[in-house]
Amino acid sequence: MIETRPARALPVLDAQPDASAARESLHALDGRLAEFRPEEVRRPSFFVWTLGCQMNKSDSEEMAGRLLAAGCPEAASPDEADILVINTCAIRETAEAKVVGRQGRLAQLKGGNPALRVVLTGCAVRELDRTRLPRRYPAVDLFLRPDEEPEIVDRLGLASAQAPIGIAIDVHTARTTVVNRTVVSAADMLPATRADAVAAGAVHRASPVSAWLPIVYGCDKTCTYCIVPFTRGPERSRPFDDVIAEARALAAAGYREVTLLGQNVNSYGHDLPAEPRFDHVRPERTTGRRIERAARPDLAELLRAIDAIEGPDGRPALPRLRFLTSHPWDLSDRLIEALAGARSVCEHLHLPVQSGDDAVLRRMGRQYTIAHYLDRIRALRDAVPGIALSTDVIVGFCGESDAQYEATLDLLREVRFDQVFAAAFSPRPGTPAWHLPDDVPAGTKRERLNGLLALQEEISLDRNREWLGRHVEVLVDQSAMSAGHEHDGPAGGSTEVGVQAPEGGAADPAAPLAPGPGEVRLAGRTREGKLVHLAGPETLVGTFVTARIVHAGPFSLRGVRT
Ligand code: SAM
Ligand code: SF4
Ligand code: F3S
Repeated sequence: MIETRPARALPVLDAQPDASAARESLHALDGRLAEFRPEEVRRPSFFVWTLGCQMNKSDSEEMAGRLLAAGCPEAASPDEADILVINTCAIRETAEAKVVGRQGRLAQLKGGNPALRVVLTGCAVRELDRTRLPRRYPAVDLFLRPDEEPEIVDRLGLASAQAPIGIAIDVHTARTTVVNRTVVSAADMLPATRADAVAAGAVHRASPVSAWLPIVYGCDKTCTYCIVPFTRGPERSRPFDDVIAEARALAAAGYREVTLLGQNVNSYGHDLPAEPRFDHVRPERTTGRRIERAARPDLAELLRAIDAIEGPDGRPALPRLRFLTSHPWDLSDRLIEALAGARSVCEHLHLPVQSGDDAVLRRMGRQYTIAHYLDRIRALRDAVPGIALSTDVIVGFCGESDAQYEATLDLLREVRFDQVFAAAFSPRPGTPAWHLPDDVPAGTKRERLNGLLALQEEISLDRNREWLGRHVEVLVDQSAMSAGHEHDGPAGGSTEVGVQAPEGGAADPAAPLAPGPGEVRLAGRTREGKLVHLAGPETLVGTFVTARIVHAGPFSLRGVRT
């Protein structure tokens, strides 16, 4: 029998306190504490305008993340922002001119909003030009070199929670040092600051589907036309485990595709300390400059390790892995084996050739011959049959003759790239080629560029027609409704090379889409980096769909879901 006891009565205060008196005394206390309480300040809003390559896009995501973490809201447009960050590109004069030409408009914006601060970051900010920058960009308040970008919050005086609108800017120039010929921050902490940003969730990724993952900063090559080694400094690889940790975090966050980034992504790891766990990694390059790389991680090692991060189904947790940009001289057999063997590594490689003529390549300081380049293409096609290939070409480089230009066209005919990003040579101050005569007239450069693009358009169309009737896996990453997310060239395509192909989002005019009821226009990429337009419900964004290719244009395909 269960004994029931009377519920125990809780003691009750005889005299309840007078609630209104308590409120009054609290108010009095509040009043006395008011002077110690932080004032409510609206944090300045920001807008980031990004020009240039994928590395710049990735850097902008980090700057935006840092500003958001500092409590600043993102503005919908530059006109509504209190901080306008312009992340510049300097690869060609036209890229810099885009920003120089906006100075008047920026001054107008500042007239309308006296609190507006303009920050110029990226490759147009070179230490050696520091004194000239304010004259060139009079509307700019703060200049940050690429290696100074992680300091953006501090330099804008936003580190304090009290930083008001109309912030004071720390205009000091960070301490610098010279590595080779390049001025970089004295304590270049990019690899470490990236790890901190990732750990703090301070990377504001533009896409929820595909992510950039920088693995090596700077470039040690000496291509005579190129400004990048002067703007981004020497190569600095991120520690192997940091990269793996970021890849794991991306997998856990549901990303479907990751692109490893570096100006010369193939040289990843040579500057990291040797470790017994990488004893099996041996350098194998036989041409050009030798760099001691034994017992250090390399890109092949990284691809295999990321591929080995598996989901519960035993498949790669990041189903698609890409990397760019590759340099032909650093494309080792080991890397090609990894490309062929790692399940998630996509069947596409962007391998800039620049010219089809050995003498021009030598003047460009490219370190390889056309024979070497073709050997690499053969090795790639043997290892990964059907691999899609894209490249970068510069026409009208110093001293390029008609015959040398024709040799480039011959190379395009021989290799039959899926896509070519081409541009006319633009002399960049401070580069070695600046001192060579820029002797191909502008009109000839234009004609050569147009001729090359016309030839490549035919080749691209032919290659794309090979896909007609085939079933492909498309990772849908855009809908007409979310078209704000800009998709770059071929997945893995080169940078902002100002070229021919309509940017990712644009459909071939001959490929209209007719979405049915409840459907929208969608777009995505195949593993080979082909852009496919199709119709379907908006909910397909971020998923893999199978599509049958029903139309091929030179720049994209059209498919129907099966
Ligand atoms: N690191 C990559 C490589 O090895 O080629 C590419 C990096 S660069 C940012 C992208 C492309 O810009 C190059 O491949 C080249 O075709 C083009 N480029 C670089 N400097 C140029 C210049 N001065 N004029 C025209 N195009 C240029
Ligand atoms: Fe420029 Fe690429 Fe050459 Fe480096 S490898 S100098 S980034 S073209
Ligand atoms: Fe810099 Fe990329 Fe342009 S490295 S110069 S932003 S193409």
